[in-house]
Amino acid sequence: MNIKVVPVTDAEKRRPPESFSFGSTFSPHMFTQTWKVGEGWQDATIGPYGPFSLPPSTAVLHYGQEIFEGTKAYRRPDGDINLFRPWENALRFNRSAARMAMPAVDPESHVEAMVQLIALDHAWVPRRELGTLYIRPTMIATEPALGVRASQSYLHFIMTGPTGSYFANASKPLAVYISDEYVRAVRGGTGAAKTGGNYAASLLVTEEAAAKGFQQVLWLDGVERRYVEEVGAMNIAFAYGKHIVTPTLTGTILPGITRDSVLKLAPDLGFEISEERLDVHQILKDIASGKVTEAFGIGTAAVIAPVGRFGYQGQDYIVGGNEVGPVAAGLRTALTDIQYGSAPDPYGWTLRVPARD
Ligand SMILES: Cc1ncc(COP(=O)(O)O)c(C=O)c1O
Repeated sequence: MNIKVVPVTDAEKRRPPESFSFGSTFSPHMFTQTWKVGEGWQDATIGPYGPFSLPPSTAVLHYGQEIFEGTKAYRRPDGDINLFRPWENALRFNRSAARMAMPAVDPESHVEAMVQLIALDHAWVPRRELGTLYIRPTMIATEPALGVRASQSYLHFIMTGPTGSYFANASKPLAVYISDEYVRAVRGGTGAAKTGGNYAASLLVTEEAAAKGFQQVLWLDGVERRYVEEVGAMNIAFAYGKHIVTPTLTGTILPGITRDSVLKLAPDLGFEISEERLDVHQILKDIASGKVTEAFGIGTAAVIAPVGRFGYQGQDYIVGGNEVGPVAAGLRTALTDIQYGSAPDPYGWTLRVPARD
């Protein structure tokens, strides 16, 4: 793909801040391209990060036809930068696009846009001690017309920003509220797509859970409200000693790239791992009896996030003494060492981007 590059001017040049939380600081450049029926993708450009101007009638503002992704760039010990499985991320972007009746992007061009963006803003990739560069590809429906139908035009953009830990107190295990009233997705719905509506629908119960002292919500299946699905922005796994179980992909949960990496990595670290249909009552019983020794979320933003407490129907269930356990810690170290390039990558997951002006 031929990407036109319009670098920021000297006056617009910014320096990365000393500290940053998740999702609040953005790098100087962004990628954009537009799509129209009959014309396809055009005007691929990297230019200054800045606001869009959209008429109030713009389709996405009314009918939520949008998709997004989340992936990261990691600072290697030698100063270069790693992307982690960007190809899988591009393919999931296209699967979400297909579900939301949006046009596919060329996966190679999508990855190339990320590479060029990161090479240009390489100074914004933090040192490992400080965090990572979060990458947020997005596509929105831009037709300026009302009417419930697939838009005739789209905007695809990619922005990036340095990020620290996803959770405010990253060293403490999470408290997770199990929702038995609201559901996130049903079979045939959009649960497996990364589309904004899934997240909008989760906010009410997330607020309710926060008021009760929980940081995240665990979703159960939409029909029986009995089988464990996933957490707000992560997949979930439970350890019975060295045996890890995670819910099977049923079409209602997001097929996490970190989840897939853990499925491949765990056996090489001496853990057994299986995908199963997990009955919440059995899991809670096993937590109460101590058979479940650890629970942890799995996702790009939080990597491996131990869960120390579940709340279900007014009762608390403490896992592993509310401490970080050896399975979560082992997986986290092995995975992040590959991501940051401080351990070899026998799986071919990383794409190296040189960091040079
Ligand atoms: C709902 C949901 N489940 C799971 C995940 C984990 O997916 P990944 O590991 O690809 O980040 C995410 C994050 O993208 C998510 O939003």
